[in-house]
Amino acid sequence: MSSLDVNLLGTVHGGVVMKLVDSVAGAVAQRHSGGPAVTAAMDEMAFLEPVRVGDLVHAHAMINWAGRTSMEVGVRVVAEPWDQAAAEPTHVASAYLVFVAVTPDGGPRAVPGVRPETSAEERRFREAEIRRAHRLARRAAIDAARGSDIPGAP
Ligand SMILES: CC(C)(COP(=O)(O)OP(=O)(O)OC[C@H]1O[C@@H](n2cnc3c(N)ncnc32)[C@H](O)[C@@H]1OP(=O)(O)O)[C@@H](O)C(=O)NCCC(=O)NCCS
Repeated sequence: MSSLDVNLLGTVHGGVVMKLVDSVAGAVAQRHSGGPAVTAAMDEMAFLEPVRVGDLVHAHAMINWAGRTSMEVGVRVVAEPWDQAAAEPTHVASAYLVFVAVTPDGGPRAVPGVRPETSAEERRFREAEIRRAHRLARRAAIDAARGSDIPGAP
């Protein structure tokens, strides 16, 4: 991270980390779905430790779950000092994003399913289903409470 990325405290701006997270998650969603995919939602973005200027920052993303046209992508961000080869990378942020695969017209496009194989993948799949159920329930409850005819509108 460069000195252009800092906030007023001298550490890296959260939005810079979010952009990295979105980009890496988008690449993984594109690879899984075999074509363009757009960010539909970004939730549970947790900043766990500050990132400092000069840190080498790595983001690792994976598809946790896939529905008909949407995918949940989990991202783990780690940082290490640029000048200390022996330093263990620090887990600095995590996020869950929903991507929707799209056609050239921008409409939703079907995606391949996810078949968890390891116990860690099964756990991530189950937890993604819980988050999906909560997202849908929260949206439905808010729409119902507003009597809104614009679903999801702020
Ligand atoms: C994402 C987008 C394509 C969804 O279009 P839509 O007409 O609302 O699609 P649908 O209602 O048919 O939903 C499609 C899927 O996305 C999911 N979805 C849509 N909005 C969502 C949201 N806010 N959160 C979570 N999931 C969402 C639906 O549950 C559905 O999943 P499923 O097919 O796996 O069951 C559309 O809202 C869009 O183009 N948004 C702008 C995206 C963008 O510009 N991102 C930033 C730059 S990449």
